[in-house]
Amino acid sequence: MESDPDTQSAAAVLPVLTEQPAPGTAEGPLQVRNLEAEDIDFVARMLVEAFRDKFEFAVGKSRIEAAIQQQASSLSRSPNIWHRYYVALYEGKLAGAMCIVFYGDSADEGSQCCDSQLGYYGSTRLWCVHCCLDNSDMRRGECYIDRICVDAGYRGKGIGKAMLDKAESEAREHGSTLMSLWVKQTNRAVHLYERQGYNISMNCCWPCTWFAVGNARWYQMEKQL
Ligand SMILES: CC(C)(COP(=O)(O)OP(=O)(O)OC[C@H]1O[C@@H](n2cnc3c(N)ncnc32)[C@H](O)[C@@H]1OP(=O)(O)O)[C@@H](O)C(=O)NCCC(=O)NCCS
Repeated sequence: MESDPDTQSAAAVLPVLTEQPAPGTAEGPLQVRNLEAEDIDFVARMLVEAFRDKFEFAVGKSRIEAAIQQQASSLSRSPNIWHRYYVALYEGKLAGAMCIVFYGDSADEGSQCCDSQLGYYGSTRLWCVHCCLDNSDMRRGECYIDRICVDAGYRGKGIGKAMLDKAESEAREHGSTLMSLWVKQTNRAVHLYERQGYNISMNCCWPCTWFAVGNARWYQMEKQL
């Protein structure tokens, strides 16, 4: 029996797809790439805006600009960890950022306990959160997602999911077997993480983070790769 000539020609021209494109690298409106020096001011501002309630509680409304400057200078002091920071671009415009940390990575050299611009209480509060939600007890094979955020004007377009996909693909390449993150229990982002396959592995109540950022209840969420 003769085969259908249309089917035959289509099969002849269509390439066989053996590999999915890496997340955030395919053609389309969305790209995820490593942080570059010129992204720092945008990322610092977006980070503070995305977690504005936390920053306002910690340093006060009048010091929000100082907090943005402090984030920018902290990022600028850490060029050797830039390969762990990623930015998402939507139609070529910066729209999101995240940091990933692998088991065995050295601490972020840019973070520091006291910053005179933030005041004694402001810097102590931010330091306190940093200490509670840190990654000092990471397990072998773990990859920790930190500070994931999307600019308010770009939320709900799948950018958060694309960054999670990118984190997981980088982690697999690095040989990691476990993804983890911390999230405020009332944060809507919990839905996103659950859809992405993360489960709640720890339900924590830390009064010191209430003192620091007005929230004591956190989930640790994890996903096996
Ligand atoms: C969480 C966040 C990174 C998701 O990015 P996104 O591009 O909007 O995500 P996607 O479009 O891929 O997925 C949409 C999901 O994101 C989450 N989301 C959307 N807007 C959100 C917001 N303002 N705050 C928290 N989560 C939000 C929800 O889970 C949403 O799913 P739902 O509509 O079913 O509830 C982004 O909303 C954000 O920056 N929020 C503020 C900072 C933050 O809370 N970061 C997480 C810290 S653990």
